[in-house]
Amino acid sequence: MSARILVVDDEPNQLVTISRILGRQGHEVLTAENGARALEKVRAEPVDLLITDLNMPVMDGMALLREVEELPARPATVVLTGYGTIQSAVEAMKHGAADYLIKPCNPDELKLVIDHQLEMRALRTEVANLRREVSRHQQRYGALVGESPGMREIYRLIEAVSRNKSTVLITGASGTGKELVARTLHARSPWASGPFIAVNCGAVSESLLDSQLFGHRRGSFTGAVQDQEGLFQAAHGGTLFLDEVSEIPLGLQVKFLRAVQEREVLPVGATRPRKVDVRLIAATNRDLRAEVEEGRFREDLFYRLNVVNLHLPPLAERPEDIDPLIDHFVREFATSYGVSPKQVTPAARERLALHPWPGNARELQNVIERAFALSDAEQIDLDDVEPALSGAAPRPPGAASPSRPARVLPLEDAERDLIAAALEQSGGNKNEAARLLRIDRQRLYRKIEKYQLG
Ligand SMILES: Nc1ncnc2c1ncn2[C@@H]1O[C@H](COP(=O)(O)OP(=O)(O)OP(=O)(O)O)[C@@H](O)[C@H]1O
Ligand SMILES: [Mg+2]
Repeated sequence: MSARILVVDDEPNQLVTISRILGRQGHEVLTAENGARALEKVRAEPVDLLITDLNMPVMDGMALLREVEELPARPATVVLTGYGTIQSAVEAMKHGAADYLIKPCNPDELKLVIDHQLEMRALRTEVANLRREVSRHQQRYGALVGESPGMREIYRLIEAVSRNKSTVLITGASGTGKELVARTLHARSPWASGPFIAVNCGAVSESLLDSQLFGHRRGSFTGAVQDQEGLFQAAHGGTLFLDEVSEIPLGLQVKFLRAVQEREVLPVGATRPRKVDVRLIAATNRDLRAEVEEGRFREDLFYRLNVVNLHLPPLAERPEDIDPLIDHFVREFATSYGVSPKQVTPAARERLALHPWPGNARELQNVIERAFALSDAEQIDLDDVEPALSGAAPRPPGAASPSRPARVLPLEDAERDLIAAALEQSGGNKNEAARLLRIDRQRLYRKIEKYQLG
């Protein structure tokens, strides 16, 4: 390994001898006769290694070490010392010198010490570069995990749309990471320091959603005791995340369209619209196009929202992401439970790999959390995951994802399986299961009875 080395000594003989040895070993050598001159040189042009005497006029070796310590491209430093002054070499090492050489130094010793220091420095640089790389990667995709082609495509799209303000529609089944993607998009955008405001459009009544989103004037309805700014305005200069956007009642969709189109809102009871500057991200686990066809969602609003579509594939379609997600959630829960990360046994991993994951990443997250909550063991074994998975049979290896059945079933069996899967995904919540199946509750109750799923 050849390097640029600066040798500092007030004895010209020493400089000549050491320079000659280093030159023969293939290094580029600079010299200086005191600390002040040396400092000028390293400031002008960085060096890889500095070898310095301690006792020198003008600026001594210790003072030089202290100054060099502050430099952005700090070289490795080695001090030269006589037999009688080893104590000061030790002192110098406390001040940042990496090693010392005793005068007169012989070529072999010089080579040994220098090579070692250069190697250490190369390692340090490499580690620093890797750290930077990792943190750049984390900044880029937030906490998103997975290197499957499907996730890579998501990263590519995030990269492409984060810089502009186009409206983004994130689609994908429940638990696939839609909200996480929305947050990542915001964090990667130029207005990341602005607010990120999430609204669940399905959680409240039409009138409440109206005043929540658009605000209201004092006295515009009973209970409106003061002017209230809506979430659209609160998100000004940032991102407004409209979760479960398919649930916006038809009656509100026109008002919504206007807000999206004109970037202005009309608070309930107000006569004058307010301008807002927000990036809109909408998310849904429904097929919004089908909602349009069935007359439940305005087509014009759909096109306004669906400018860029990010579709998150279900976990079962990207099985290579399961292992990295297991590790990610294990680290996450180890941190939040304040324990060291647990090993996941190969048997447990194999079982998790075969699960069809109807609840996607969130379901996997729940399985790992359960293992942390219920067991103190240092590893997560088959027994710790199996009970949480019992609802669904393991996917036969190599079989197609559950959305494309591998074989044709009698219709009744298929219906029974679908209803069981919906109940599992909804955690036994029949309202939610009915919603997933898009049938009404009464009909679901009849089917549950028929197939004795209750
Ligand atoms: N690719 C991923 N990497 C890391 N964590 C993920 C990933 N995908 C999902 N998660 C985690 O899984 C959980 C569920 O994700 P999220 O809430 O974003 O899903 P969602 O699609 O919004 O679900 P829902 O439709 O039910 O609202 C979150 O805790 C999220 O952090
Ligand atoms: Mg969500």
